[in-house]
Amino acid sequence: MKVAVLGSTGLVGKNVLKLLTRLDQVVRVYCPVRKVPGAENSPDLAAMGILQGTSKLDFEVVDFMSLGTEGEGHKKLLAGFLGCEAVVCCLGTTIRQVGSKAEQERIDTRLPLTCAAIAKKAGVKNFLCVSAMGADSHSPFFYNRLKGTLEEGLTMMNFETLTLVRPSLLLGKHNDKRRGEEFLQWFFGGERSMLVPSFFRPVHAETVAAHLVTSLLKPPTDHVCVTDKVKGKRIIYNRVLAKTKVEQLF
Ligand SMILES: NC(=O)c1ccc[n+]([C@@H]2O[C@H](COP(=O)([O-])OP(=O)(O)OC[C@H]3O[C@@H](n4cnc5c(N)ncnc54)[C@H](OP(=O)(O)O)[C@@H]3O)[C@@H](O)[C@H]2O)c1
Repeated sequence: MKVAVLGSTGLVGKNVLKLLTRLDQVVRVYCPVRKVPGAENSPDLAAMGILQGTSKLDFEVVDFMSLGTEGEGHKKLLAGFLGCEAVVCCLGTTIRQVGSKAEQERIDTRLPLTCAAIAKKAGVKNFLCVSAMGADSHSPFFYNRLKGTLEEGLTMMNFETLTLVRPSLLLGKHNDKRRGEEFLQWFFGGERSMLVPSFFRPVHAETVAAHLVTSLLKPPTDHVCVTDKVKGKRIIYNRVLAKTKVEQLF
C-alpha cells in the first residue's frame, strides 16, 4: 500500500516513518515537506536509519502557503495523495515557534484541514491525525480549542475511517529547543511518570506513532465512536497510550 505522512520531519512524524519503512505491506511513503531532510540537516533521521536504503520514502518539497485550488502546493499534494490508502497527519507547531495565536491556529487547525480536504479530493479513504488530550472546541484553553475544532472539521469530512490520537505531553527530542517541555519531560518522565494518572501521563512519541500505524493497518471500519456515534471514527485516548507496550501492538 501507498501512504502519505504530513509532518514527517517532526517528533511523531519521524517515528511514524521509522515504523512504516519496516513494514512489507507499505511500498511507498509520500512525505510532503518544507525542506527535504538529509544527513546534514536531520542527523536524527539518519541515525534512526530511515534515510539510507529506504527507497520507499518519497520526500517532496511543497509550498504549504499555496494550498488554494490554483496553487502549486495544492497540485503537488493532490498528485502525491493519489492512490494513497491513508494520510497520516502529524503537523503542528507552538506559539513560541510562530509568535502568535493566529499563526498557531493556521498551522494546528487550518493547515491539517486544508490538507485533509485535498486528500479527500484525491480519493483517500482513511485519515489519521495527532490531536491532543482535552481536545474540545468549547474548551476555555486555546490549544484544546484548536484541536477540538480540528477534530470536528475532520469528522465532518466523512472519511471512510478517521483515527484521532489524543496524547498528553510527548516524550522525545524535538528538533528545536523547548525548555518548558524539556523540564516537564524531566519532571514527569522516568520512574515518576507512574505516579501520574494515566489520562494525563506523558507518553512517548513512539507510542503515538505505533498507534497511528496499527490503526492504519487495521482501520476502524466497523468501529462506532462512543462519544458522537460516528461510524468509522476511533479516538485513541491518552489513558490507552499510557498503558501501551509498543512491542505488544505489532
Ligand atoms: N509536543 C507535545 O507535547 C504534544 C502534546 C500533545 C499533542 N501534540 C501534537 O502532536 C502533533 C505532533 O507533534 P510533534 O511534537 O511531533 O510536532 P513537531 O516535532 O513540532 O513537528 C511538527 C511537524 O509539522 C511541520 N510543520 C510545522 N509548521 C509547518 C508549516 N507551516 N508548514 C508545513 N509543515 C509544518 C514540521 O515541519 P518542519 O520540520 O519543516 O518544521 C514538522 O514536520 C502536533 O499536532 C502537536 O500539536 C504535541
